[in-house]
Order: sequence, then C-alpha cells, then structure tokens
Amino acid sequence: MRLHVADHPLIAHKLTVLRDVRTPSPIFRQLTEELVTLLAYEATRDIRTESVEIDTPVAHTTGTALAEPRPIVVPILRAGLGMLEGMTRLLPTAEVGFLGLQRNEETLEAITYANRLPDDLTGRQCFVIDPMLATGGTLVSSIEYLFERGARDVICVTLLAAPEGLRTVQDAIGDRADVTIVTAAVDDHLNEKGYIIPGLGDAGDRLYGVVD
Ligand code: URA
Repeated sequence: MRLHVADHPLIAHKLTVLRDVRTPSPIFRQLTEELVTLLAYEATRDIRTESVEIDTPVAHTTGTALAEPRPIVVPILRAGLGMLEGMTRLLPTAEVGFLGLQRNEETLEAITYANRLPDDLTGRQCFVIDPMLATGGTLVSSIEYLFERGARDVICVTLLAAPEGLRTVQDAIGDRADVTIVTAAVDDHLNEKGYIIPGLGDAGDRLYGVVD
C-alpha cells in the first residue's frame, strides 16, 4: 500500500474550512467538490495513457490520451457521493460505479447492500472515493470486493485518514496489489465512537444533513 498526503496550501485551507463546525452544508458540499478536484489531480498522477497521432491546425504530432479500458470511479455510499462531482470534473470520461456497505453490528462484518459495478474489472484502474478513512473496515471490504472482480490497481481518495485505519488497510492488503491512498491529511487518532480527531465530524451528515 502506498500513502500520498497531498501537501498543498490550498488543500490545507479548504480542509480547515471543512473542519470548522460553523461551515454550513451548502458551503461544505461546494468545498468538498473543490478539494476533491485538487486531490484527484494527485490521485491520477499514474493514470494509464497511450500515445495518439493528431493534427494540430499547423502540424502533425504525437499526443497523449487516456488508455482503454476507461478508469472507473466508485463512490462508497452515502458520503462518497459528495465527492463524485469533484472527481468526474477532472475525469469526465470515467465510468461511475457505486458500492454501498453497511456494518453488521453483531458480526462487525461489512455487508454489501448496493452494488452497481461491472462483474469484470480486470485491467481497470479503480478510484474509490470515501471522505473518511476511520477504522478502515469499509475501505478494506471495498478493496476486497474490487479484487474479487479482478481489479489490481486501486486508488482510494479520502479527505481525512486516521492512523488506525491506515494500519488496518496496510495489514489487510499488504503488498498484494497496487493500492494507493491519497488523502488531504492524516489526523491524530480515533475516539471511542470511531470519529476521527480532530476530524470534521460525520461527513455524511455535514454534506446532506442528519437523517432521523
Ligand atoms: N465517518 C465520519 O463521517 N466521520 C468520522 O470522523 C469517522 C467516520
């Protein structure tokens, strides 16, 4: 597993506004999109490309195009949806899949309750988007799910990561495949309720409001 912490003053600034409890949902959503576009720039550094021959108005030249098969962006429901617009703004030709995972509170296993993904992901670069890498359980299950379908190149984009979650992903995935985590910051720790500290609270609630 590789970790890339995107160290840029604009990212740090936008993240600070997201963390602020006074930031209302509409601004939170807009800033999340902007932040994800900046993170997507880092996350796509190794995106697969191929050479193409083109004509400019004045000459013939060799250029670069995204290779087939197209990359796939996989938001983890529900909070990952808030990152989708920012990601597809930079990757408009990417395909979009969805994955919904819920933890069984008795067995603590993640159960897939929604899946809209191709059965065969062989050769596809998969960009998993989920704002908070907290315990790492959901992310590990998502990566395993993609591996089962043949993916071997998975880039996870998160706004924040906890050291505990990063360790869980590292322990589960090891060097089995090409897994990269791109995040705006690694925070201090998880509290007893599984919230990232200092964090930004419940990302889904801050994006979409509290659902009773
Ligand atoms: N999920 C969140 O939305 N926030 C946290 O701090 C941890 C998990």
